Amino acid sequence: MEHPAYVDLLTHTWDMLADIATTKTASGTITLATVDTNDQPQACVVVLRSVDPEHQILQFHTDADSLKFRSLRHNPKAQILVWNETVSIQLRLSVEVNLRQDAESQALWRQVPSPSQVAYGKHPATGAVISGPFDYRTLSSQDKFVVVECHVTKIDYLSLKAEHFRAVFEKEDSWSGKWISP
Ligand SMILES: Cc1cc2nc3c(=O)[nH]c(=O)nc-3n(C[C@H](O)[C@H](O)[C@H](O)COP(=O)(O)O)c2cc1C
Repeated sequence: MEHPAYVDLLTHTWDMLADIATTKTASGTITLATVDTNDQPQACVVVLRSVDPEHQILQFHTDADSLKFRSLRHNPKAQILVWNETVSIQLRLSVEVNLRQDAESQALWRQVPSPSQVAYGKHPATGAVISGPFDYRTLSSQDKFVVVECHVTKIDYLSLKAEHFRAVFEKEDSWSGKWISP
């Protein structure tokens, strides 16, 4: 098998992420893992809204009442997981988040279509126990809309297509890359 080059793996990583955000190859979702205030890992699916390869930033949106918001406020470190079945590549991205409720998030709120705005703000709040499955109201609340900016610090690229290989890239090493036994 041809020896892969670090630079091509990095380019491929950001291309795959951009494809998810534009829903070209996947359903537009990623898996997010956080650690809650009881040190319990929590994984869930979120929609990848934007990708900025130049600054290594990914964005998703969430509700300020969600567990993940509280978890990330307590511990801003998270991991994003992507499995691209077509090319047999797993990406594990270590990230540090910035929870934004500012002028920029307000500007983005205005671009969220109204059917999607219902995802933000509920009464009782998301996560609360309710007496029946539909005993809640949606509030479409701008106050609960949070833009989560994920700054990528590490990329773990695992290829299982032909001969298995794995590479790790870290921001603190200027993304220079290391081969890892898979
Ligand atoms: C396909 C899919 C897409 C989702 N997208 C989002 C999203 O973009 N943002 C979000 O906060 N939750 C999203 N969710 C819901 C989360 O997975 C999770 O159930 C919810 O946010 C509650 O999380 P919490 O435990 O942090 O409160 C999505 C779920 C699915 C199945």
